Amino acid sequence: MAKQLTDRILEYLEKHGETNSLDLANEFQEDHQKIIGAIKSLETVDDLITVKPISKKKWEITAEGEYIIEHGSHEVAIYNAIPDEGISQAELMKSVPYAKVGFSKAMVAGWINLDKSGTSPIVRKKAPFIVDTIQTHLKDISNIPENIKTEYKKRKLLQEVVIKIMHLEKGPNFSIKIEKLEADLTSDLLTNGSWKNKKFKPYNFEALGAAIQIGSLHPLLKVRHEFRKIFLEMGFTEMPTNNFVENSFWNFDALFQPQQHPARDAHDTFFVSEPRVSTKFPMDYLEKVKKVHSKGGYGSLGYRYDWKLEEAQKNLLRTHTTAVSARVLRKLMQEGEFKPVKYFSIDRVFRNETLDATHLAEFHQVEGVIADYGLTLGDLIGTLYEFFKKLGITQLQFKPAYNPYTEPSMEIFCYHNGLEKWIEIGNSGMFRPEMVLPMDLPPDVNVIAWGLSLERPTMIKYGLNNIRDLVGPKVDMEMVRTNPLCRLEK
Ligand code: PHE
Repeated sequence: MAKQLTDRILEYLEKHGETNSLDLANEFQEDHQKIIGAIKSLETVDDLITVKPISKKKWEITAEGEYIIEHGSHEVAIYNAIPDEGISQAELMKSVPYAKVGFSKAMVAGWINLDKSGTSPIVRKKAPFIVDTIQTHLKDISNIPENIKTEYKKRKLLQEVVIKIMHLEKGPNFSIKIEKLEADLTSDLLTNGSWKNKKFKPYNFEALGAAIQIGSLHPLLKVRHEFRKIFLEMGFTEMPTNNFVENSFWNFDALFQPQQHPARDAHDTFFVSEPRVSTKFPMDYLEKVKKVHSKGGYGSLGYRYDWKLEEAQKNLLRTHTTAVSARVLRKLMQEGEFKPVKYFSIDRVFRNETLDATHLAEFHQVEGVIADYGLTLGDLIGTLYEFFKKLGITQLQFKPAYNPYTEPSMEIFCYHNGLEKWIEIGNSGMFRPEMVLPMDLPPDVNVIAWGLSLERPTMIKYGLNNIRDLVGPKVDMEMVRTNPLCRLEK
């Protein structure tokens, strides 16, 4: 179609010497925008045509004008609505649309008269017959005299609009046939010599490369990759974290977290309703856990309360990946002899939090665990320095803290050079004997562990201060597409 149109335009120009897009649209009965498109494509051929943009006034029929074309003018409608015996003015005004204008125009034209002698004014036909000139005019506006057009403009039946049109003349290299320019110098053109007579398309050095359609990594994935690399460099093995649904036993009880602990409340934890409970547990281990809670053992007095299986059975969305660490540590001894291990995990955890700029109901936890003979708090501190150094963080401070499953416990603070203050970055500790000894780990083995969120360092790294800019429906996909690689200064 477009091809045809360009040929027709060239032929028309050949015959008439000059024309414009509006005339062409009328001549070819085509949409004006389509003509403009065709002219633009002709313009790309060097010197073929000369184009000048001009503004031109054009008459257009308004919506009210269109109504008249279809239904007749308002005055005619009024005239036709009057029966031979006449009609009360009030009733007539209700009988047709645009009655007010129609009435006054019909009065001026002398088509009708108003009889006010009675109690209510009566309208009667005066002219024996009438002709609807307005409708005839509007049906073909090219034939209306200018003064009448102005009158219709006042009545808002016509409006004058300014449109941008293109004036065209033949260019210095005008021809009615467009020679297709070669885009490639092929070996055929070279060997048969035809390149000598061909015209070549000029290089467009301004052209942008085609956008590559590829996926992009979300910042969290980039930072996760860096964390994973650090752990692997330090000789850690990744734990399997592929279960978001956990039961209270592994999430809390195995970690010596008492059944009355507030974190076990539905305000803090998402419990699962279907399936509501777990039924399979390693019973010998469960008995040991029950005992250490209710009666104590391993040198501990325990909590001394009535430990209930029902509480431990409740399914939930895991609140920390330490549940995974517990499963993995206990499995260690199932395989027979103890061997020192270094484990890590990075995956999602869920908490029933009040959402705000820095908290969502789910986030990623980065966790490191080392089990070896004779580990001390000094080993934990040393390991944390080594770990954070690889993240580019060299200044650390530790603050005593409390976790049901670690003793001693330490919150980890780092000095943030950009923010120029100490910020809390993680939590750590040595797993309690009440947690590790029921797992049958050798008594001279200690376990040191720490955990932090993935979101916090990612937000700092990418300069985001609202977590909703990082996770959730408000994330700007352009940010994901263009944000830089994660490089941690080491
Ligand atoms: N599980 C702790 C948390 O949720 C992190 C932690 C892991 C603390 C290991 C000490 C040891 O914050």
